[in-house]
Amino acid sequence: MFFLTTAIDYTNGSPHIGHAYEKILADVLTRYRRLRGDEAYFLTGVDQHGQKVQQTAEKEGVDPASFVAEITQRFTALWETLGVEFDGWAETTDDRHKKCVQAILSNLKAADQLYKKSHSGHYSVRQEQFLSDRDRDESGNFGPEWGEVVIIEEENWYFKLSEHTAWLKSYLEQTQDAVIPAFRKSELLNALERNPGTDLCISRPKARLHWGIELPFDSDFVTYVWFDALINYVSFAGYHAEAADHLPNFQNLWTSDERPVHLIGKDILVPAHGIYWLCMLHAMGFPDAEMPRLLVHGWWNIRGEKMSKSLGNIVDPKELAEKFGVNALRYYLMRDIVTGKDADFDPSRLVMLYNTELANELGNLCNRALNMTQRFTAGILHRGGMTSDDDLALQSSLITSTADYRAAMDEFNVAAALEAISRHVVHCNGYAERMKPWELNKDPQKHERLATVLYHLAESVAHCTVLLGPILPTAVGSLAAQLKLPHLAQLHLHDLHWGLIADAHEIDKPAPVFPRIIDAEPA
Ligand code: MSP
Repeated sequence: MFFLTTAIDYTNGSPHIGHAYEKILADVLTRYRRLRGDEAYFLTGVDQHGQKVQQTAEKEGVDPASFVAEITQRFTALWETLGVEFDGWAETTDDRHKKCVQAILSNLKAADQLYKKSHSGHYSVRQEQFLSDRDRDESGNFGPEWGEVVIIEEENWYFKLSEHTAWLKSYLEQTQDAVIPAFRKSELLNALERNPGTDLCISRPKARLHWGIELPFDSDFVTYVWFDALINYVSFAGYHAEAADHLPNFQNLWTSDERPVHLIGKDILVPAHGIYWLCMLHAMGFPDAEMPRLLVHGWWNIRGEKMSKSLGNIVDPKELAEKFGVNALRYYLMRDIVTGKDADFDPSRLVMLYNTELANELGNLCNRALNMTQRFTAGILHRGGMTSDDDLALQSSLITSTADYRAAMDEFNVAAALEAISRHVVHCNGYAERMKPWELNKDPQKHERLATVLYHLAESVAHCTVLLGPILPTAVGSLAAQLKLPHLAQLHLHDLHWGLIADAHEIDKPAPVFPRIIDAEPA
């Protein structure tokens, strides 16, 4: 079982392009694993508690529950628009989640992993955490990333994180794929080195924050939002659940032959996922063999700068989908970033990559394969006769591209997989230009050769349709319909062999699937 989860998005504002990228990537990786023939489960959702939500709701004069319900709806509507299809939906205000968080807290307390103490110190309202001297910048101040910093003295509950950091270090050192890509693991190990042993404050006094999950053993406190949110990965997977909760069977999802993958952005590796979460799981009794793999993606920036409300440069995925179409947006977000690294979001590149690789290259190939078959061979594809060196080279390009696609997707690198498809499409267009089916058509002696050439082009379209499926699921439907091969959508990678199209197969009328975007306007 391939069990993939993503970070759950904060519900204190509208979804932006960063949220959309992560969810589309998760959707693509899940669809790809199904294409491989594997069972897959994709869990995502929203993070609804915490001080920021409470404050924003207060500012807007609404109660936090209605506030988060409205924002949550913006996320679910966007996922529907963008074709992000998840199997499980995590909302942290869900009673089933609360029950699980409280059960975990009670168990940790019984295992002597939690204690109460008083602490006085600097507190970042924005990051909702106490700060230490290590958080000061070179000039000794708390930098702007912490927002407003106040001095607070209060009693709280703590998790004995420091008891687990030695284990964490050795687990990370021994487990090659604990964090992907590898350079992010080095960052995590460096952070551990710098800050090896403070415990984690896991409560907030209700006097200050009421919008959270109450501690089951001390009703004056609610659970710290990160401790609550991280637990979604197990609570909605059925951990501590009963049959009546209608959640998956935890053993099926988590304790399987393949460790779960948590897809997160680089900003929430240290300390939240890389330190807190792995130590929490260790304290809960999860063995090393069941620790999740952390797949860390980079950020989309805008002209080299971080997207932020204060800079006013937030990109709205809904507007982009309306303007350029879902296919173009999904294609761009998967094509122009290497998983793990940052990229610059640039609408002119979106238009250029879509127009070049889909509208022109693939569009041209589809047009040649389907239109010429309609015009020259009455819509019937014939396998034809002898294969030439050019035909064999095309077949071999397809085999290489498919293998490269698979290797890249297995390494979560969708951009490289798309480049592999593109290479084959370019090869096919070169082949068409050399074989000149329009010339072959003029000479009745060459009609068998014409059939072979058209078959090679159409067969390539059929293969590319299947390979593009995870990235552009709706396009697969349209291309499969034009080829009159509805079963393409059900094929697995191992079904891809030369000859998907039977001899004398009749295709349907072609229609452009990737219309060119005409957009002169720079965004
Ligand atoms: N609620 C926490 C996560 C809790 S997980 C138990 C959170 N939410 S968030 O809304 O701020 O971010 C959600 C995800 O979007 C994170 O993985 C984050 O890295 C990702 N991104 C936020 N901005 C991004 C970009 N500009 N680009 C790519 N991803 C970005 O953190």
